[in-house]
Amino acid sequence: MIVLKSARELAHMRAGGQILAAVRERLRVLVRPGVTTKEIDVDVEAFIVARGAKSAFKGYRGYPATVCTSINQEVVHGIPSEKRRLAEGDIIGLDLGCIVEGYYADCAVTLAVGAVPPRVQELLDVTRESLDKAIVQCRPGNRLGDISHAVQSHCESHGFGVVRAFVGHGIGRQLHEDPQVPNFGEPGRGPGLKAGMVLAIEPMVTMGSWEVRILEDRWTAVTEDGSLAAHFEDTIAITENGPEILTRVEPGA
Ligand code: MF3
Ligand code: CO
Repeated sequence: MIVLKSARELAHMRAGGQILAAVRERLRVLVRPGVTTKEIDVDVEAFIVARGAKSAFKGYRGYPATVCTSINQEVVHGIPSEKRRLAEGDIIGLDLGCIVEGYYADCAVTLAVGAVPPRVQELLDVTRESLDKAIVQCRPGNRLGDISHAVQSHCESHGFGVVRAFVGHGIGRQLHEDPQVPNFGEPGRGPGLKAGMVLAIEPMVTMGSWEVRILEDRWTAVTEDGSLAAHFEDTIAITENGPEILTRVEPGA
């Protein structure tokens, strides 16, 4: 069942989303050669708590941290560690959520640590562009498949692989609500989009094939072929006037 959100509920999710937008800015400074993923996690948790919000992932199904830190061939759900130090040339996916007044917001970004080869930068650019193209589809009258198709067609046309095993999701009182939002699919198919729906759209894209496997820690998902992977995510409210991106700072705000 897809739960529509009222204006009051959207206000809470917007407040959480704006905290995440601020974290995302902070990550651009925090992510640098030599820092450990644990140091990033500790800093981000303190930042969220200082703003009166709660970490969404810590304790979720036993997940032990605030941020998922996924380096290079790790796709999602990497666990922060004091033993994992970033090096020049790495890419790192950072995924985090927060809770305000019982409502969730969720976002992710992939950053390059220093300089990376052009094709790696293209992976990051194309994955982010595919999210932007998906967001444009978030208006009443369109269907869920329009979102999925926007991601898939953009990424595959650039020769990248689109992960199937993980999908985006509805979000609200729970981190994961209906509907599932796949990053692959046919335009014009699936549930109709309505004002009041809130979706977390999260393309996970690789330099090689779409297949993934889970490491022994039972969390970290890596590409089966060892290729690099990128992940971007925003929480988007569908309004009568089109998409409102809750996890980005509104221009002029
Ligand atoms: N951002 C992830 C998602 O959208 C959630 C991570 S699962 C957790 O599904 F356990 F790490 F919280
Ligand atoms: Co999510």
